[in-house]
Amino acid sequence: MSTPPAAQDMQATADASTTDATALTREAIARVDSSGQLDDVLALPDHLRDALWRVESAIMQDWDTSAGLVVAGMGGSAIGGALARAALGDHASRPIFVTRAYGLPPWTTPDTMVLCASYSGDTEETLACYESAGALGARRTVVTTGGRLAEMARADGVPVIPLPGGFQPRAAVAYMTVAALEVAALCGAGPRLTSEIDVAASHTEQLVAEWGPDAPEDSLAKTLARGLHGTIPVVAGAGLTVPIAYRWKTQINENAKLPCFMHELPELDHNELVGWEGAPTVGRFSAVFLDDSDIHPRVKERMELTERLIAPHAAATFRPQTRGQTTIERVISLVLLGDLVSIYLAALRGVDPGPVRVIDELKAALAQG
Ligand code: F6R
Repeated sequence: MSTPPAAQDMQATADASTTDATALTREAIARVDSSGQLDDVLALPDHLRDALWRVESAIMQDWDTSAGLVVAGMGGSAIGGALARAALGDHASRPIFVTRAYGLPPWTTPDTMVLCASYSGDTEETLACYESAGALGARRTVVTTGGRLAEMARADGVPVIPLPGGFQPRAAVAYMTVAALEVAALCGAGPRLTSEIDVAASHTEQLVAEWGPDAPEDSLAKTLARGLHGTIPVVAGAGLTVPIAYRWKTQINENAKLPCFMHELPELDHNELVGWEGAPTVGRFSAVFLDDSDIHPRVKERMELTERLIAPHAAATFRPQTRGQTTIERVISLVLLGDLVSIYLAALRGVDPGPVRVIDELKAALAQG
């Protein structure tokens, strides 16, 4: 066991055999990254600012929806709703619910705001939610680049927050998060965080410099990627970091083309903890615990103890911390870190982070049916 040099922001135990000598430079990443996914991650601060401007220019009225907010979306378009809910935390004054399904929760009423989030505008589950919300007489808002969703919204007079085209949907995470935060404020489910988002954009710029490809090879993101390389990562969150753990999982799935799993504390201590005993007999698993300064003190204690109990069965364990003052800064900090780690992992594996061919194939097969 050793502690890598860039350990200021994390606790780590890693087996020396997990390291990889490949330099994670812009040039090395560009060799596999045919569609510039790295640039889209590095542009996260600009996306935050542009998203604020786009919501403002959509000129939406304040709609007081006493039953709260439902964000309907899938994959890279749904995660923004979950991150927004985490960023609002205790300041959410009404229920905020994310549905990743063909239908809305049964308690949706005309007093619910339904934000239909689909980057392409053609995701069938989200289109079904849009129609259900209309049938129920719920308030609707749409965030998309176009597709059938934009067509229907325009025909129905439903406000559309327009997104820039040309991204992989998952790269629009900042846009989706800001849209959900701003719509939450408009419908009375949370406070307006506009100026905090603007400040968070500058904070994120510093982290881009600290963890991006021009940073030293022993920087936190590169160290994490090397430690996870050659393992199946299992990511755990607690409180605010639970949806971020899910983001890490999905980014490692889609960018690095790897299996990756997630769970949350304290629940993990009541089941998954035991499963780790068998881990070395079936594969090389690594554990990442996403820590935050505001986690319940007993959960913090659990996280430290759990990492220690899992370490003998894991190829590596890591405990990166959120960075920043406000909840939005802290949420975005670990989203950025996970996105970078997933791109670095793709580069270490020699795979192109952009295309998600099997998802495209599945959608095409469903469209035939
Ligand atoms: C692809 C991705 C997917 C999509 C999902 C829904 O980059 O992240 O998870 O986000 O298939 O599609 P959209 O976002 O177009 O509604």
